[in-house]
Amino acid sequence: MQKIGILLSRVRVEEKWLFEAFEKRGAAYDRLDDRELIFNLDQPDHWRQYAVVLERSISFGRGLYALQILNRFGVPTINSAAVAATCGDKLLTSAALQAAGVPQPNVRVAFTPEAALKAIEEMGYPVVLKPVIGSWGRLVTKINDREAAEGLLEHREVLGSYYHQIYYLQEYIRKPGRDIRAYVVGDETIAASYRSSKHWITNTARGGAGTNCPVTPELNALCRAAARAVGGGVLAIDLLEDPQRGFLVNEVNHTMEFHASAPATGIDIPGAVADYALRVARGVTEAATANPAIPSTTPS
Ligand SMILES: Nc1ncnc2c1ncn2[C@@H]1O[C@H](COP(=O)(O)OP(=O)(O)O)[C@@H](O)[C@H]1O
Ligand SMILES: [Mg+2]
Repeated sequence: MQKIGILLSRVRVEEKWLFEAFEKRGAAYDRLDDRELIFNLDQPDHWRQYAVVLERSISFGRGLYALQILNRFGVPTINSAAVAATCGDKLLTSAALQAAGVPQPNVRVAFTPEAALKAIEEMGYPVVLKPVIGSWGRLVTKINDREAAEGLLEHREVLGSYYHQIYYLQEYIRKPGRDIRAYVVGDETIAASYRSSKHWITNTARGGAGTNCPVTPELNALCRAAARAVGGGVLAIDLLEDPQRGFLVNEVNHTMEFHASAPATGIDIPGAVADYALRVARGVTEAATANPAIPSTTPS
């Protein structure tokens, strides 16, 4: 069988576990460091030595452009460039979830501070403002009153880059001190964990602690629907529990971290990812390379 490529920026514990999983399965793989890569567009064959490339970049931009080139060369990737473009942008994700009828918090988008303030006032406080591109909870902001809103919008306008002028506003969900991260591999929700914190931002990267969350039929169905909505593959679905509406999908991550969830759930997440990659490599499972119509996104 052809080799597996693992595209990465640095070797985190997740990548170490993935290497071990491939080694255990006797699969040959190359590490492809996105800081050293050079793509020569005249030499697509070089990349066709890989049956599949698993993308694990910590840079959204490097990962996305590498996937776009690889998919154009006809190399299957996990995930596809189209999936990365959607998941890497919270607004595109919300639009995809909405189109698929997947429940999520109310989202409003505005393009000027004035329009954003109007939307915030309509939504009522508190409201959550997020950069459309970002992770680890960075710049995710809860706005509690009009004065905070005015100050924040002015900061965004003066100090931000162009995408900070895309005002992505989300209804604040009164969740029970935790959110849920669920892992979908192919068409199966293989594990889920609660991330609990005293802070309203419960990301593991911000100190949220992980415990096992049972994958009920309801949770499984919703997570699979969310994964399908963005194009499918290997995905982490973040959910919020609303006291009235139940599960709402907050976002979908296409290069997921799982160092806290794998121990908390007892599920071999890297093993499941490796098995899926090998199925794609054998052509048993189709990677979502089929859609070359990649949305144009200018990442950070
Ligand atoms: N609308 C919301 N209501 C309540 N909590 C939220 C909301 N949006 C985000 N959070 C909290 O903030 C965390 C980070 O937000 P998220 O949208 O996942 O951004 P990131 O991509 O940076 O992880 C979530 O895991 C959750 O704990
Ligand atoms: Mg998140």
